[in-house]
Amino acid sequence: MTTQTGKDLITIAISKGRVFEESLDLLASLNIQVVEKDLEGRKLLLSTSQPGIRLLVIRSKDVPTYVQYGVAELGIVGKDVLMEFTGGGIYEPVDLGIAKCRLMVAGMEPQLQNSTRLRVATKYVRSTQQHFAAKGLQVELIKLYGSMELAPVLGLADCIVDLVATGNTLKANGLTPIEHIADISCRLIVNKAAMKIKSATLRRLIEQFKLAAKG
Ligand code: PRP
Repeated sequence: MTTQTGKDLITIAISKGRVFEESLDLLASLNIQVVEKDLEGRKLLLSTSQPGIRLLVIRSKDVPTYVQYGVAELGIVGKDVLMEFTGGGIYEPVDLGIAKCRLMVAGMEPQLQNSTRLRVATKYVRSTQQHFAAKGLQVELIKLYGSMELAPVLGLADCIVDLVATGNTLKANGLTPIEHIADISCRLIVNKAAMKIKSATLRRLIEQFKLAAKG
């Protein structure tokens, strides 16, 4: 196998969790397959069928950071994560159309009462602040890291802002969708400096991702 120098090597950061399987399917359609033995263990840096391309498997929130600092030239990450990201140094050239869902306000009441100061539980602090500020509403944010659906049920918050895909989790916990904030899907991101230094390789890959993107 040819050994790639840092100059030729492309690292793609991808999110663990729900996005992972769909990302691997998409990469397979670009003829980038993870080496089987790397998939079996707990390796976080995975070799692929293309010697010049390796994958970095990390928490979704870390993907933009790795790409910002150029440790990974490319990243595959949800728009929900990018909406929370305040760093710079990245382009977002392709909507990959995978892992589609919606960022929504949800609660136990179909209507939110505008008169009181709402308590909103979420891990999407920035998007939530922007959403309610645009409506001229001041809200009290309660930062949670998961299982947000519990918060209105147990009286911790009036409503939540969270991702909704099938709606099953809301339904199972007696919540209803109230407001749509944004359509979410995975995006391809690229380090700006790498676009200059590894221009030809990255442009070719970006074109391939565009062709493979789900409509
Ligand atoms: C996400 C999201 C909802 C659920 C929505 O949680 O936070 O809880 O999926 O999916 P559904 O509409 O198809 O039921 P995830 O499983 O990613 O874990 P989390 O609680 O850590 O966010």
